[in-house]
This record gives sequence, C-alpha cells and structure tokens, in this order.
Amino acid sequence: MPRRQVRRPDKTIDLSGILREPDALPEQLTAATLFGNERPLEIEVGSGKGLFLATASGERPEHNFWGIEIARPYALTAAARVARAGRDNVRVTPADAGPLFAKRIPDRSLAAVHVYFPDPWWKKKHKKRRVLNEAFLQNVSRTLAPGGQLHFWTDVLEYFETVLELAATVTPELGPPIPEEASEAEHDLDYRTHFERRSRQHAIPVYRVYWAPLFEPAAV
Ligand SMILES: C[S@@+](CC[C@H](N)C(=O)[O-])C[C@H]1O[C@@H](n2cnc3c(N)ncnc32)[C@H](O)[C@@H]1O
Repeated sequence: MPRRQVRRPDKTIDLSGILREPDALPEQLTAATLFGNERPLEIEVGSGKGLFLATASGERPEHNFWGIEIARPYALTAAARVARAGRDNVRVTPADAGPLFAKRIPDRSLAAVHVYFPDPWWKKKHKKRRVLNEAFLQNVSRTLAPGGQLHFWTDVLEYFETVLELAATVTPELGPPIPEEASEAEHDLDYRTHFERRSRQHAIPVYRVYWAPLFEPAAV
C-alpha cells in the first residue's frame, strides 16, 4: 500500500523543546543527557507521524520517550504532534537509528525499544536495509536495562518470521518472543501507530510480539 505524502507541520508550532537535530546530540545518549533526569528511557525507531509517541508519553508521564525517525518530514510531523499534545517527556531526532544504537547508547540503559511496522524492503537485494537486522538486535540486547522490553509489530509475515528466527539465533538472551494483543479501537486514535490503524482498517493481519529478557543480576 503506497504511503501518503506528509504535510509540512504548522510553522507556528514551537518544536524547539522537542526536536533534537542529530549534530546537536550529546555523545552519550541517556535520559540524563537528553532529558536532564534519570527517568526510564523508551526509544521508538521509525516514529512515522508520531501517534505512538503522543499516546504513550501521555499514558506514562513518568517515562522519557525518544523517537528516532530517518525521514525529516515525518520527524517534524511527529514532533508537532507531541508539541500540540503539550508533552515535555518526548524528544524526536531526524536520523538513522542504526549508528546511534551502535555506538552511543550505554549498556543496560533502556526501559524499552519499540519498532512498529518497519519498512519491509521487499526486494531481496534491498533486505539488507531492514532496521531489524543482526547488528540492531545485538545492540538492543546490549542496551536494554533489566526489566526492559523490545516490541516489534508488523503486517509482513515474512519479516516477522525472519526476525523471530534471527533473534533466536543471534540474541537468545532476549528469551522467547511473547505474543502481544491488539487493543480495542473505538476511536481513530485508539491504535498503537498509524500503520496499525491502516492495516486493521483494511483487514490486513498484524503480527505483534515483545521480548522481556531476564538478565543475570550484575555481580557485586
Ligand atoms: C512503515 S513506516 C511506520 C511508521 C510508524 N512506526 C507506524 O507504525 O505508523 C516506517 C518508518 O521507519 C522510518 N525508518 C526507516 N528506516 C529507519 C532508520 N534506519 N532509522 C529511523 N527511522 C527509520 C521510515 O522513515 C518510516 O517513517
């Protein structure tokens, strides 16, 4: 299904508290350096138009949320959505999440990583562009704090099965994937993301799972 063009957000909305440009990011990416507090940090990779960020940041105001979205127009739209919602616990960065996870997020520092409906890159020669690859899973496994979770939803069965197989092979420490239930959706915004809404409204099956690894306590 083709993706609609995103409209430029209203220029009168102040995004300065939310938008974090990649070249202005601190070297170490933590709750302290991004938000100036020690609250649990949840990261969404590929935030699209920001429905998850806006909803989850309202449901869990005691957590920080950082959306990393590679497409600048979508990052601006997501930032505008959370600004309109009046959130102060969200940051959005227009950037590729891969290198940020690879180097700058400390071990055992994240409460959750969310990846919803990542681009499928259907063609065989393009599959290496998929966000959920071996290196990314290893970085998620390294950066999740005890009690942390990785959420992955998609409507592409082949991508879903590939990631489950890959995780079992390269990051068995994540433990078994746990099925996640769809929520009731009475209202247009009662979906986790825009792509979930689109799939469900077109009766396309959605595959939902999360991992909640039990890490060994650190030696004392
Ligand atoms: C199919 S859309 C889904 C958007 C949203 N998660 C949803 O479910 O509505 C996938 C999003 O991931 C973004 N994306 C793709 N590769 C990325 C990367 N390496 N880092 C950050 N965002 C990425 C795309 O620009 C796009 O907005």
